[in-house]
Amino acid sequence: MSAYSRVAGVDTAMRLQSDELSENVRSAKGTPVSKRNASRAARARRHSAGIRGSQALNGLRFLWLEITPGCNLHCQHCYTESSPLLKDPKIVDWEKVLRDAYRAGCRQVQFIGGEPTCNKQLAQYVSTAHKLGYTFIEVYTNLTLLSERLADQFRRYRVNLATSFYSSLKETHEEVTGVEGSFERTVAGIQYALRKKIPLRVGLVSMKTNEHDVAEAVKFLVGLGVDKGKIEIDHTRPVGRGSGIVKLQSLEETLCGQCWQGKLAVSWDGSCYPCVFARRVMVGNLSKSSVGEIVRSEKLKTFRRRIFEHSRKRMYASGQEFLNRFLTLLSETN
Ligand SMILES: C[S@@+](CC[C@H](N)C(=O)[O-])C[C@H]1O[C@@H](n2cnc3c(N)ncnc32)[C@H](O)[C@@H]1O
Ligand code: SF4
Repeated sequence: MSAYSRVAGVDTAMRLQSDELSENVRSAKGTPVSKRNASRAARARRHSAGIRGSQALNGLRFLWLEITPGCNLHCQHCYTESSPLLKDPKIVDWEKVLRDAYRAGCRQVQFIGGEPTCNKQLAQYVSTAHKLGYTFIEVYTNLTLLSERLADQFRRYRVNLATSFYSSLKETHEEVTGVEGSFERTVAGIQYALRKKIPLRVGLVSMKTNEHDVAEAVKFLVGLGVDKGKIEIDHTRPVGRGSGIVKLQSLEETLCGQCWQGKLAVSWDGSCYPCVFARRVMVGNLSKSSVGEIVRSEKLKTFRRRIFEHSRKRMYASGQEFLNRFLTLLSETN
């Protein structure tokens, strides 16, 4: 599972399936129920899965807010093509976006960029999200600019942190980030976050530059005290500068297949996308439409249905492959 499919800490597609599965197991193992009760329960299960499924396809559950195009680093693979040369033109009223999205039913938000800590209003946005009632707030940061004051705000507003790490070797990490000294600063940021007991997960994106050291990088992080279960390895997607270092793919191959689940990305200029990696599918701009209008738009719904169908087929195909392998193994052992 990619770092992005886990952004909200849950994977609804899998959960819908496993809910149904565990319900089936429970009723299979539980006290015998009358046929009538069983079919009533099955109807209720189908109904509730249907509601949750359609909310995911039509609603707003999770928001990426790219609160600046700028960054203090210049990573080889950066899909937003961020760099120290880009300044924030302050086009979007992020407080309004938070309010409108909350009204549209959204309860999970991730502040990202570029580098979100380059936006001096970050602490203010986090406090607004907390006060509005968002139940999951995450800041995705390279952790090179984490100040004591910001860390205190994160603790106060129950922020989760996500960060990026590329190699246990300073030279390799910095070959990816393009900035000398970034290795020590990110390591110090990770140590500080852990000391402050701020929940932290780490995304490790592999590419030609660092693929030889991925396993060592994981060991290094675990040595720092990062929970192994919170380290997510992903591959480089052919988006932004990433398209210069990996082969171009279809949209379906580029995406992990989870973005149909009520997700929306809002970029620094107000452009909205169904996923941070789906930049070739702009579904609207906040200068022309409201958050609610974009969520209800046919363009977004059509995209979500397309990704949903594709990931369902992919899931069935891998289930079928697993079953075939299991049956072959069984016939070989008999
Ligand atoms: C765009 S960055 C923004 C947050 C912050 N500046 C950071 O780097 O942690 C978010 C994550 O996306 C990853 N990323 C950037 N470009 C990517 C690409 N082309 N494919 C896959 N992941 C990418 C980064 O490695 C980082 O983990
Ligand atoms: S991946 Fe993050 S740290 Fe690297 S250039 Fe892009 S925004 Fe900056």
